[in-house]
Amino acid sequence: MMIRVENLYAGYGKIEALHGLSFEVDEGEIVTLIGANGAGKSSTLKAMMRLAPPEAPLVSRGDILFKGKSILPLEAHKVVEQCKMTLVPEGRRIFGNLTVMENLHLAAWTRSKEEIAGNLERIFDLFPRLAERAGQQSDTLSGGEQQMLAVGRALMTGCSVILLDEPSMGLAPLLMYDMFRTLKRLNTESGLTIVVVEQNARLALEVADRGYVLNTGEIVAQGSSEELMRHSHIKEVYLGG
Ligand SMILES: Nc1ncnc2c1ncn2[C@@H]1O[C@H](COP(=O)(O)OP(=O)(O)O)[C@@H](O)[C@H]1O
Ligand SMILES: [Mg+2]
Repeated sequence: MMIRVENLYAGYGKIEALHGLSFEVDEGEIVTLIGANGAGKSSTLKAMMRLAPPEAPLVSRGDILFKGKSILPLEAHKVVEQCKMTLVPEGRRIFGNLTVMENLHLAAWTRSKEEIAGNLERIFDLFPRLAERAGQQSDTLSGGEQQMLAVGRALMTGCSVILLDEPSMGLAPLLMYDMFRTLKRLNTESGLTIVVVEQNARLALEVADRGYVLNTGEIVAQGSSEELMRHSHIKEVYLGG
């Protein structure tokens, strides 16, 4: 198992957000965590990235294992380096006053010239739109293009695991499908391991191998995507009947 989250408790000050969460992700899988607003999806990803409070929750119990080893003692930049794991945060967080190319280069500051060239080629192949807009200031991009840039930036770090926080948010339906199709392509062509959290459960389950349903900081259901899509309660609550 590549990632194992074990009985994780985490919170913000006195408010506990995650109450004993357990799930796992195997190498090469697409795993989705679905759940309503406030369920703890972002908190889970931030804890996995070892981001620091107050932005991220403080882990009080349990463990996060990467290839069998606890990553709780690591700082976020070490998680990026050692686990080759990168987060595409909610709301993208790109540098709006910088160009597309500048944003991509900034994410790659620890990489070699050869690696940067290879990664750029791959990103522009996946997202030709970004190549066309390479010199454009990023805050003038559309929402869909900004999301492409956010994913591109993650890929520039040379990651083999990518954590995505609601990549569909704010996108028109067609662009959502494009984004998820590209994620699937990255998974099949490059073997990228993907953990994606989504409120849009139907979309996520369509590309994921397996999923977990998160409800107020706890896993309440899990299974293959097919199983979860057939599950009557999940259909009713998360898939709109
Ligand atoms: N920075 C923060 N400070 C305090 N409480 C937070 C913070 N971020 C999230 N929370 C709380 O933690 C719970 C889980 O939030 P979150 O992980 O953002 O859920 P989701 O991403 O599923 O919408 C919520 O009750 C939320 O109010
Ligand atoms: Mg969230």
